[in-house]
Amino acid sequence: MSEKTAPEGKGPNTGRAEPGRHANGANGEAAQDGRSFKEGALEYFHYRGSVERAREVLRLFQAAKKAASIYPPNHEICLGAFAEFMRGFREFLTRREAFSLQVVGEEFFFEGRLLARESVLYYPLIKEFQEKGIGGLSIGAGLGAGEFVGFLYLLNRGSEELRAQGGLKALLDAKGISNIAIDDPGTWREKPPESRERSTAREEYYDAVNVIRELADQVVSDRRLSTGKANRVVGAMLSRVGENRSAVLGLATIKSYDEYTSFHSVNVLILSLALGSMLPLDRGALIILGTGALLHDLGKITIPQGVLTKSGPLTAQEWEMMRDHPARGADILLAQPGVHPLSVMVAYEHHARYDLRGYPRINGKRLQGLFSRIVQVCDVYDAMTTTRPYQRARTPDQAMRVLVKEMGSSFDPLLVKVFMDMMGMFPVGTLVRLVTGETAVVYEAAGEDAAWPRVKVIRDAEGGEVEPRVMDLARLVEKVGEGGRAILESIHPEDAGIDPQDYL
Ligand SMILES: [Fe+2]
Ligand SMILES: [Fe+2]
Repeated sequence: MSEKTAPEGKGPNTGRAEPGRHANGANGEAAQDGRSFKEGALEYFHYRGSVERAREVLRLFQAAKKAASIYPPNHEICLGAFAEFMRGFREFLTRREAFSLQVVGEEFFFEGRLLARESVLYYPLIKEFQEKGIGGLSIGAGLGAGEFVGFLYLLNRGSEELRAQGGLKALLDAKGISNIAIDDPGTWREKPPESRERSTAREEYYDAVNVIRELADQVVSDRRLSTGKANRVVGAMLSRVGENRSAVLGLATIKSYDEYTSFHSVNVLILSLALGSMLPLDRGALIILGTGALLHDLGKITIPQGVLTKSGPLTAQEWEMMRDHPARGADILLAQPGVHPLSVMVAYEHHARYDLRGYPRINGKRLQGLFSRIVQVCDVYDAMTTTRPYQRARTPDQAMRVLVKEMGSSFDPLLVKVFMDMMGMFPVGTLVRLVTGETAVVYEAAGEDAAWPRVKVIRDAEGGEVEPRVMDLARLVEKVGEGGRAILESIHPEDAGIDPQDYL
């Protein structure tokens, strides 16, 4: 993933890092100014490592902030989260002298690099920064744990309260917190849009997540749904699928542990549109299918969060609530003008199963509707490949095997076959070991043939990091394939400590 977008400072930089300074390294073009390739490559890897650690710092920051918003500072959960942050921050300091984060529009940047995934995952944090007048954040190497904790509790004060007290900056001064500096809003701005194409599809994904959040909030507050907004999201995603199905399928590998339902809904939308367009369905039908897919779990807004994220077994009563979400969702959708009845049917039938042994029980019908069958395959696939409080994610090929095993019982066999054709046995985003011993991420389907995708090689046979390079598996098979195989096995990203998203 090469990010060329860089925020440029238009005001004084209160921080200690220079955004954009490592743009060459980030783009792998470091050898141009006369230095040896090796020097360039070393700088590149150093840079990549720094970005990874910065992401980790941000993740730990978010976790510590959350803990501090719930518990008092001496609670063991807080103590653990604060210690974790300090550990991550010290690790970061082995690469850089200070940590800095810039807010540009509704996105986070680190040293000129868009943190696309974090901008989606921590969107509420960006919103909060905006409300509290934080345009960026710098944390100096001298940061002490006490200072950090003091900062978190200040930051967690309400925006009204902060304003009344003269703003966060003044409070930091008053409390003697000198290793954390805040940039004013608007300190950073983006470079012109021509360098941004690569992130457009991601932005659309992120817009879609926002829309589903808004739709859900709206339904909770006044039971009304803006169908226009839903249609726009479905239309935009449909155009993307038409342009480059393989790239869009890569987006569907973005997951959120904390905010499962919104991300899941967008993933199911993407997968369903992609599958529907393979059948093929026409545009009108795809819009109806997509609307049903995006809204299929809307009924979950009636279930308490604690039940949705429970790690242990559900009680009979909780299970009853869960089983009711398709009917609740359909009720909500039926009450909205402008939602097509077939989209409502998707919400109602998406857990009914192909053999109609799921829920709710559907009487007087021999088969789920076609759109419901499509969404059911995509729903279960996305759910299986996401880590949840009660399950570790399956790798995409493991999930694919489950679909195959349940062909004819849970799933429409024909649809599973088309889905497999589309995704390949090792779908985009799967981390794999090749016959050469190298580690790679499945990058895109090659032309029409999903069986021989292109991969991005990211580790050599000894496990050493290499500059990512795209390779055609069909070529590899010609050269060294063992019985026509180019991929030995999939690897669980958590076991390898690699996030395939970084390479898509
Ligand atoms: Fe559901
Ligand atoms: Fe679902």
